[in-house]
Amino acid sequence: MTFHVLNVYRATPGSILARDVVARPVGRLDLLDLDEPRIGTLAGSVPGVAQFIPWLRAGYRGLLLAENSAWVCVGWLATPASPPPVHLRNGGAYWIFNCHTRADRRGEGHYQRMLVGLVQLAARLGCADEEGIFVDALASNAPAVAAIERVGFRRVGTIIQVEISRLGLRLTVPIGLPRNRTGVPGPG
Ligand SMILES: CC(C)(COP(=O)(O)OP(=O)(O)OC[C@H]1O[C@@H](n2cnc3c(N)ncnc32)[C@H](O)[C@@H]1OP(=O)(O)O)[C@@H](O)C(=O)NCCC(=O)NCCS
Repeated sequence: MTFHVLNVYRATPGSILARDVVARPVGRLDLLDLDEPRIGTLAGSVPGVAQFIPWLRAGYRGLLLAENSAWVCVGWLATPASPPPVHLRNGGAYWIFNCHTRADRRGEGHYQRMLVGLVQLAARLGCADEEGIFVDALASNAPAVAAIERVGFRRVGTIIQVEISRLGLRLTVPIGLPRNRTGVPGPG
């Protein structure tokens, strides 16, 4: 049995995009949409890339931070029109998930840049300040927690996940999360 505690954070696009948090530029970086041809160029190099085209076809949106065509960071966004983020049960919210920075480029602010890029994308897709945008991280993932808070997200709740792999069971308990558009408490 495994037991995970996920911190859940929320921000409004207005509050994030008003701040100049994308500091410390390193080299020339491009923030690009992950479309099918671009995903094809990443094959074998990015963890979990085999899922990316199915995710795109399911309605998630992805971004790539690249330097001279080499991947540096990837990140994904679930929207009210897509299924829930892949690790959660309920949807109906703008929710950032599955971000990853290349191991040799960590600690340079790329995840923070990705978070801001995904907030910009959510705003373009119609995310209003009243609904906000969410992201979660394992409470034990110190770099992720530090980056999320530094960008300006505020903690709003917790998700407890218990997996009993012997029985193929995953229990997800949202605590303190606001209701989404369909009235369900949080994505959970
Ligand atoms: C989590 C992850 C995406 C962070 O990527 P990154 O590009 O290195 O993140 P950033 O550089 O933007 O920010 C990391 C912050 O954590 C800080 N940090 C690094 N290690 C830390 C630690 N052990 N304790 C506390 N803070 C730490 C960094 O100093 C930085 O903060 P700063 O800008 O205030 O100095 C990356 O470690 C990763 O890909 N991990 C594997 C996948 C994963 O866990 N994804 C979950 C995302 S929810």
